[in-house]
Amino acid sequence: CGPTTSGGIYEGQSSANKACEVQKRTFGSAATHIQRNPAYSELNSDDVSYFKSVLGENGVVQDEDRVMSCKCRLDGRLAVVPQGGNTGLVGGSVPVYDEVIVGLAGMDKIISFDNVNGILTSEAGCVLENLSKLVENEGFIMPLDLGAKGSCHIGGNISTNAGGLRFIRYGSLHGSVLGLEVVLADGTILDMLTTLRKDNTGYDLKHLFIGSEGSLGVVTKISVLTPAKLPSTNVAFLSCNDYKSCQKLLLAARRSLGEILSAFEFMDHHCIDLAMRHVEGVHNPLPASPYKFYVLIETTGSDESYDKTKLEAFLLRSMEDGLVADGVIAQDISQATNFWQIREGISEASVKVGAVYKYDLSIPVEKLYDIVEEMRCRLGDSAEVLGYGHLGDGNLHLNIVSSKYDDNTLGRIEPFVYEWTSAQRGSISAEHGLGLMKAEKIHYSKSPEAVQLMASIKKLLDPNSILNPYKVLPQSVL
Ligand code: FAD
Ligand code: MLT
Ligand code: ZN
Repeated sequence: CGPTTSGGIYEGQSSANKACEVQKRTFGSAATHIQRNPAYSELNSDDVSYFKSVLGENGVVQDEDRVMSCKCRLDGRLAVVPQGGNTGLVGGSVPVYDEVIVGLAGMDKIISFDNVNGILTSEAGCVLENLSKLVENEGFIMPLDLGAKGSCHIGGNISTNAGGLRFIRYGSLHGSVLGLEVVLADGTILDMLTTLRKDNTGYDLKHLFIGSEGSLGVVTKISVLTPAKLPSTNVAFLSCNDYKSCQKLLLAARRSLGEILSAFEFMDHHCIDLAMRHVEGVHNPLPASPYKFYVLIETTGSDESYDKTKLEAFLLRSMEDGLVADGVIAQDISQATNFWQIREGISEASVKVGAVYKYDLSIPVEKLYDIVEEMRCRLGDSAEVLGYGHLGDGNLHLNIVSSKYDDNTLGRIEPFVYEWTSAQRGSISAEHGLGLMKAEKIHYSKSPEAVQLMASIKKLLDPNSILNPYKVLPQSVL
């Protein structure tokens, strides 16, 4: 990546087979169909010496316990995997064979914070939570928040175009990111690190790198617009008897809460049961009951008493209209934290069951829960099907959990889930990206012409395809 990348290079000693085994366990069948591309060089001691001369002894990690990679030979086409906090959910940040990991963790410096305009400029390896604390001290907030905030990097967030819990209010990173510095495959440092709000001079190239999952360049510096931190936040935890009521509640919330609505998250009761079993320290704030669905609503505004009155009136009306069966508004920080921990804990609770088949779908809200019910019919008692997600954004997380992975269950889930989503003109990856696991599925959401154009862009920027191989695009188009 050239001398300006003070991140890290990781190289291990284990065999390609071992790497592939780990991939298979972690990412199901995706890795098993891909052959190593023999055009790539293998790393040798000259490469390692070169990396050490650029990054120093500590910048190159060769500890087998910390990395998985393999033995190598040099001829100028080393494949690399950019890696941020390694929290991605589609296998994008880990090598498939012997690719060298370019770790960004060492690039964690704040460059500047403009506390008049709320513009943060930093290196790409800064952890999201650390940035949140920093800007909050200055009276601003990060435009995104997600359960992995304690580990994920802002560079990883941008490279995956992460959505998360504030999307309904602050929108996509395509709107909040003002500028980027990116290192291209040939070592060119592409300086697009502007902090301007408006700049219509030519093509806006930064957008190519937002969401391209390290396949077009390594993001090294970022500038982001941060919204003002507002003084009043309220969180409500509600239950609904059926999915239709959740849907109507969303529309009602948009109309009645308007500008103060800052989150609208939903979970079915399977998720709540799972969270109660596996998330430490949380409790269901609502009395045990046969409620089928739960909704977390957050409002953020500038007037504590006005905002609270507005939320209370909305809840009362929703109960009178029969949309809400029961509900509670957090009276203090610890109650609000409990509500959020339930919602944010579902992801990790799913993993604790044993095996989780994860799908991250964009579907029109009126159809969004149908796939969960259809999947339950298909799978019967063989697995538990959970539906939750960012309802306000039309984004369903469909998690299917069981004690272990088996091909029979997978065969009943796929390709059905993709075909069903495609038939609704939905997206088979709303916010997690394609990575390794879903690269071959892109055609369910994108036309052949669009995929071909993406491949042309990839070939233009990375003619030897050394950046994050086997990820994002199908092998057949490259
Ligand atoms: P990594 O996992 O390290 O990498 C992800 C991808 O980006 C890889 O393809 C990698 O090669 C590439 N990449 C990383 N850094 C760079 C860089 N500097 N330059 C170029 N490419 C790079 N995602 C959501 O969208 N919304 C959520 O609500 C959400 N919640 C989550 C909750 C939990 C508990 C977990 C574990 C994950 C969650 N995720 C969510 C997924 C994940 O956290 C995000 O995708 C996150 O943005 C990844 O950041 P990272 O730094 O960990 O990237
Ligand atoms: C979430 O919304 O909790 C995340 O996208 C993570 C996940 O679904 O696993
Ligand atoms: Zn999510």
